[in-house]
Amino acid sequence: MSISYYHTQLQKIKNSDNKDLLKMHYEEHDVFLKLIDESEETITLLTKWRKQYRNNFGSDFTIDENKTKKWIKEQVLSNIDKIVFLIYVDNQKIGIISTSEYDEDTNSAILDTMMKDPKFELPGLMTTIEKIYLKWMFDGLKLEKIRGVLFSDNLKMMKIHTKCGWRLLDVVPIEQTKTKDGIKWEKSTLKKPKKDIERYYNIIELVREDLMKNFNDIQCEVLCD
Ligand SMILES: CC(C)(COP(=O)(O)OP(=O)(O)OC[C@H]1O[C@@H](n2cnc3c(N)ncnc32)[C@H](O)[C@@H]1OP(=O)(O)O)[C@@H](O)C(=O)NCCC(=O)NCCS
Repeated sequence: MSISYYHTQLQKIKNSDNKDLLKMHYEEHDVFLKLIDESEETITLLTKWRKQYRNNFGSDFTIDENKTKKWIKEQVLSNIDKIVFLIYVDNQKIGIISTSEYDEDTNSAILDTMMKDPKFELPGLMTTIEKIYLKWMFDGLKLEKIRGVLFSDNLKMMKIHTKCGWRLLDVVPIEQTKTKDGIKWEKSTLKKPKKDIERYYNIIELVREDLMKNFNDIQCEVLCD
Protein backbone atom coordinates (compact mmCIF):
# COMPACT_ATOMS: atom_id res chain seq x y z
CA MET A 1 0.00 0.00 0.00
CA SER A 2 1.47 3.36 -0.97
CA ILE A 3 1.13 6.30 1.41
CA SER A 4 -1.57 8.63 0.13
CA TYR A 5 -2.85 12.07 1.17
CA TYR A 6 -5.52 10.15 3.16
CA HIS A 7 -2.92 8.29 5.23
CA THR A 8 -0.80 11.40 5.76
CA GLN A 9 -3.82 13.32 7.09
CA LEU A 10 -4.87 10.53 9.49
CA GLN A 11 -1.32 10.35 10.81
CA LYS A 12 -1.17 14.13 11.29
CA ILE A 13 -4.28 14.03 13.50
CA LYS A 14 -2.91 11.06 15.49
CA ASN A 15 0.37 12.93 16.05
CA SER A 16 -1.15 16.35 16.84
CA ASP A 17 -1.10 17.82 20.34
CA ASN A 18 -4.81 18.47 20.86
CA LYS A 19 -6.33 15.57 18.78
CA ASP A 20 -9.46 17.64 18.06
CA LEU A 21 -11.17 17.36 14.68
CA LEU A 22 -14.49 19.23 14.63
CA LYS A 23 -16.50 21.59 16.81
CA MET A 24 -20.16 22.58 16.49
CA HIS A 25 -22.98 24.11 18.53
CA TYR A 26 -26.14 22.05 18.47
CA GLU A 27 -29.21 23.41 20.26
CA GLU A 28 -27.24 25.17 23.01
CA HIS A 29 -24.84 22.25 23.39
CA ASP A 30 -21.11 22.18 22.64
CA VAL A 31 -20.25 19.22 20.41
CA PHE A 32 -16.68 18.07 19.74
CA LEU A 33 -15.19 15.23 17.71
CA LYS A 34 -11.83 14.19 19.12
CA LEU A 35 -9.45 11.29 18.40
CA ILE A 36 -10.24 8.20 20.47
CA ASP A 37 -8.12 7.76 23.63
CA GLU A 38 -7.01 4.75 25.66
CA SER A 39 -8.50 5.82 29.01
CA GLU A 40 -10.41 3.42 31.28
CA GLU A 41 -13.56 5.49 30.81
CA THR A 42 -13.40 5.20 27.01
CA ILE A 43 -12.71 1.47 27.14
CA THR A 44 -15.64 0.87 29.52
CA LEU A 45 -18.07 2.94 27.44
CA LEU A 46 -17.06 1.43 24.10
CA THR A 47 -17.32 -2.11 25.45
CA LYS A 48 -20.80 -1.38 26.77
CA TRP A 49 -22.08 0.21 23.53
CA ARG A 50 -20.51 -2.50 21.35
CA LYS A 51 -22.36 -5.16 23.38
CA GLN A 52 -25.64 -3.28 23.18
CA TYR A 53 -25.49 -2.98 19.38
CA ARG A 54 -23.84 -6.37 18.71
CA ASN A 55 -26.56 -7.42 16.22
CA ASN A 56 -25.65 -4.50 13.91
CA PHE A 57 -21.99 -5.50 13.48
CA GLY A 58 -20.52 -7.73 10.78
CA SER A 59 -18.66 -9.78 13.38
CA ASP A 60 -19.54 -11.06 16.83
CA PHE A 61 -17.40 -12.56 19.61
CA THR A 62 -17.11 -12.43 23.38
CA ILE A 63 -16.83 -8.70 23.93
CA ASP A 64 -14.75 -7.55 26.90
CA GLU A 65 -12.66 -4.60 28.03
CA ASN A 66 -9.32 -6.26 27.27
CA LYS A 67 -10.34 -6.78 23.64
CA THR A 68 -11.55 -3.18 23.38
CA LYS A 69 -8.25 -1.93 24.82
CA LYS A 70 -6.27 -4.03 22.32
CA TRP A 71 -8.54 -2.92 19.47
CA ILE A 72 -7.98 0.80 20.24
CA LYS A 73 -4.21 0.37 20.42
CA GLU A 74 -3.59 -2.08 17.58
CA GLN A 75 -6.50 -1.73 15.15
CA VAL A 76 -7.01 2.02 15.47
CA LEU A 77 -4.10 4.07 16.84
CA SER A 78 -1.36 1.93 15.23
CA ASN A 79 -3.30 1.31 12.02
CA ILE A 80 -2.50 3.91 9.36
CA ASP A 81 -5.67 3.00 7.43
CA LYS A 82 -8.22 3.63 10.22
CA ILE A 83 -9.29 6.42 12.53
CA VAL A 84 -11.99 6.64 15.23
CA PHE A 85 -13.32 9.81 16.85
CA LEU A 86 -15.21 10.15 20.11
CA ILE A 87 -18.26 12.40 20.07
CA TYR A 88 -18.48 14.74 23.10
CA VAL A 89 -21.60 16.69 24.06
CA ASP A 90 -20.85 19.24 26.80
CA ASN A 91 -17.74 17.23 27.70
CA GLN A 92 -19.62 13.92 27.96
CA LYS A 93 -18.58 11.04 25.68
CA ILE A 94 -21.77 9.99 23.85
CA GLY A 95 -20.64 8.02 20.82
CA ILE A 96 -18.12 7.36 18.06
CA ILE A 97 -17.74 7.83 14.30
CA SER A 98 -14.95 6.42 12.16
CA THR A 99 -13.24 5.95 8.79
CA SER A 100 -11.20 3.15 7.22
CA GLU A 101 -10.22 1.09 4.14
CA TYR A 102 -8.79 3.64 1.72
CA ASP A 103 -8.93 2.51 -1.90
CA GLU A 104 -6.34 4.18 -4.09
CA ASP A 105 -7.96 3.26 -7.43
CA THR A 106 -11.19 5.08 -6.65
CA ASN A 107 -9.75 7.55 -4.09
CA SER A 108 -12.47 6.46 -1.67
CA ALA A 109 -12.76 5.22 1.92
CA ILE A 110 -15.43 3.70 4.14
CA LEU A 111 -17.60 5.51 6.65
CA ASP A 112 -16.97 2.93 9.36
CA THR A 113 -18.73 2.35 12.69
CA MET A 114 -20.95 5.10 13.99
CA MET A 115 -22.82 4.57 17.25
CA LYS A 116 -24.43 6.55 20.03
CA ASP A 117 -24.86 5.77 23.72
CA PRO A 118 -28.42 4.33 23.73
CA LYS A 119 -29.18 6.28 26.92
CA PHE A 120 -28.27 9.67 25.39
CA GLU A 121 -31.08 11.49 23.56
CA LEU A 122 -30.76 14.65 21.47
CA PRO A 123 -33.02 14.35 18.39
CA GLY A 124 -31.30 15.03 15.10
CA LEU A 125 -27.82 15.24 16.61
CA MET A 126 -26.43 12.05 15.04
CA THR A 127 -27.81 12.97 11.61
CA THR A 128 -26.08 16.34 11.86
CA ILE A 129 -22.83 14.77 13.09
CA GLU A 130 -22.85 12.30 10.19
CA LYS A 131 -23.25 15.23 7.77
CA ILE A 132 -20.38 17.32 9.17
CA TYR A 133 -18.13 14.26 9.45
CA LEU A 134 -18.81 13.20 5.85
CA LYS A 135 -18.09 16.77 4.70
CA TRP A 136 -14.75 16.60 6.50
CA MET A 137 -14.03 13.23 4.83
CA PHE A 138 -14.55 14.85 1.40
CA ASP A 139 -12.76 18.14 2.11
CA GLY A 140 -10.18 17.18 4.74
CA LEU A 141 -9.20 13.85 3.19
CA LYS A 142 -9.84 14.96 -0.43
CA LEU A 143 -11.88 11.85 -1.23
CA GLU A 144 -13.75 11.39 -4.51
CA LYS A 145 -16.46 9.21 -2.93
CA ILE A 146 -17.34 7.45 0.33
CA ARG A 147 -18.35 3.80 0.57
CA GLY A 148 -20.50 2.04 3.15
CA VAL A 149 -21.91 -1.36 4.13
CA LEU A 150 -24.68 -2.05 6.65
CA PHE A 151 -27.26 -4.72 7.40
CA SER A 152 -30.43 -4.09 5.39
CA ASP A 153 -32.41 -4.58 8.63
CA ASN A 154 -30.63 -1.64 10.29
CA LEU A 155 -33.48 0.64 9.22
CA LYS A 156 -32.72 3.43 11.66
CA MET A 157 -29.19 3.83 10.35
CA MET A 158 -30.28 3.54 6.71
CA LYS A 159 -32.86 6.29 7.25
CA ILE A 160 -30.16 8.63 8.54
CA HIS A 161 -27.80 7.71 5.68
CA THR A 162 -30.55 8.46 3.14
CA LYS A 163 -30.99 11.92 4.71
CA CYS A 164 -27.27 12.48 4.18
CA GLY A 165 -27.56 11.70 0.45
CA TRP A 166 -26.22 8.12 0.27
CA ARG A 167 -27.36 5.96 -2.65
CA LEU A 168 -28.21 2.29 -2.35
CA LEU A 169 -26.10 0.45 -4.95
CA ASP A 170 -26.88 -3.16 -4.15
CA VAL A 171 -28.51 -5.52 -1.63
CA VAL A 172 -26.49 -8.72 -1.26
CA PRO A 173 -27.35 -11.97 0.52
CA ILE A 174 -24.96 -12.83 3.36
CA GLU A 175 -24.20 -15.86 5.49
CA GLN A 176 -22.63 -16.50 8.87
CA THR A 177 -19.21 -18.10 9.01
CA LYS A 178 -17.24 -19.18 12.07
CA THR A 179 -14.12 -17.29 13.18
CA LYS A 180 -11.64 -18.38 15.83
CA ASP A 181 -13.53 -16.57 18.56
CA GLY A 182 -17.05 -16.09 17.17
CA ILE A 183 -18.85 -15.48 13.88
CA LYS A 184 -18.84 -13.06 10.97
CA TRP A 185 -21.28 -12.20 8.20
CA GLU A 186 -19.99 -12.41 4.64
CA LYS A 187 -21.32 -12.24 1.11
CA SER A 188 -22.98 -15.57 0.42
CA THR A 189 -21.01 -17.77 -1.95
CA LEU A 190 -23.59 -20.56 -2.03
CA LYS A 191 -26.56 -20.34 -4.37
CA LYS A 192 -29.12 -20.64 -1.59
CA PRO A 193 -32.86 -20.37 -2.28
CA LYS A 194 -34.19 -16.97 -1.22
CA LYS A 195 -36.23 -18.45 1.65
CA ASP A 196 -33.00 -19.72 3.27
CA ILE A 197 -31.24 -16.36 3.25
CA GLU A 198 -31.33 -14.92 6.76
CA ARG A 199 -29.88 -11.45 6.23
CA TYR A 200 -28.63 -9.00 3.58
CA TYR A 201 -26.04 -6.22 3.36
CA ASN A 202 -26.90 -2.85 1.83
CA ILE A 203 -23.98 -1.58 -0.26
CA ILE A 204 -24.12 2.21 -0.29
CA GLU A 205 -22.11 5.06 -1.79
CA LEU A 206 -21.97 8.85 -1.43
CA VAL A 207 -20.64 11.67 -3.59
CA ARG A 208 -20.06 15.20 -2.25
CA GLU A 209 -22.71 16.77 -4.47
CA ASP A 210 -25.46 14.54 -2.98
CA LEU A 211 -24.31 15.27 0.60
CA MET A 212 -24.46 19.01 -0.05
CA LYS A 213 -28.04 18.84 -1.42
CA ASN A 214 -29.39 18.31 2.13
CA PHE A 215 -26.61 19.90 4.14
CA ASN A 216 -28.64 23.04 4.87
CA ASP A 217 -26.71 25.69 6.76
CA ILE A 218 -24.96 23.60 9.43
CA GLN A 219 -22.13 25.61 10.95
CA CYS A 220 -19.06 23.80 12.20
CA GLU A 221 -15.40 24.48 12.72
CA VAL A 222 -12.58 22.20 11.55
CA LEU A 223 -9.92 22.17 14.26
CA CYS A 224 -7.14 20.36 12.41
CA ASP A 225 -5.42 21.63 9.24
C1 LIG B 1 -28.45 5.04 14.32
C2 LIG B 1 -28.21 5.95 15.51
C3 LIG B 1 -26.87 6.66 15.38
C4 LIG B 1 -29.34 7.00 15.49
O1 LIG B 1 -29.24 7.84 16.60
P1 LIG B 1 -30.38 8.91 16.87
O2 LIG B 1 -29.99 9.66 18.08
O3 LIG B 1 -31.71 8.26 16.85
O4 LIG B 1 -30.19 9.81 15.58
P2 LIG B 1 -30.96 11.15 15.19
O5 LIG B 1 -31.67 11.69 16.37
O6 LIG B 1 -30.04 12.05 14.45
O7 LIG B 1 -31.98 10.72 14.03
C5 LIG B 1 -32.96 9.91 14.25
C6 LIG B 1 -34.28 10.65 14.54
O8 LIG B 1 -34.20 12.06 14.75
C7 LIG B 1 -35.07 12.75 13.83
N1 LIG B 1 -34.40 13.98 13.38
C8 LIG B 1 -33.52 14.10 12.38
N2 LIG B 1 -33.11 15.37 12.28
C9 LIG B 1 -33.76 16.05 13.24
C10 LIG B 1 -33.75 17.41 13.65
N3 LIG B 1 -32.98 18.32 13.04
N4 LIG B 1 -34.52 17.76 14.69
C11 LIG B 1 -35.28 16.85 15.30
N5 LIG B 1 -35.33 15.56 14.97
C12 LIG B 1 -34.58 15.17 13.94
C13 LIG B 1 -35.24 11.80 12.72
O9 LIG B 1 -36.44 12.02 12.04
C14 LIG B 1 -35.21 10.48 13.43
O10 LIG B 1 -36.42 10.12 13.99
P3 LIG B 1 -37.19 8.83 13.48
O11 LIG B 1 -36.23 7.67 13.66
O12 LIG B 1 -38.36 8.77 14.38
O13 LIG B 1 -37.46 9.10 12.05
C15 LIG B 1 -28.28 5.19 16.86
O14 LIG B 1 -29.52 4.58 16.99
C16 LIG B 1 -27.21 4.15 16.96
O15 LIG B 1 -26.11 4.41 17.43
N6 LIG B 1 -27.53 2.93 16.50
C17 LIG B 1 -26.58 1.87 16.43
C18 LIG B 1 -25.64 2.18 15.38
C19 LIG B 1 -25.20 1.00 14.66
O16 LIG B 1 -25.99 0.22 14.19
N7 LIG B 1 -23.86 0.86 14.59
C20 LIG B 1 -23.27 -0.30 14.06
C21 LIG B 1 -23.11 -0.31 12.61
S1 LIG B 1 -22.21 1.07 11.99
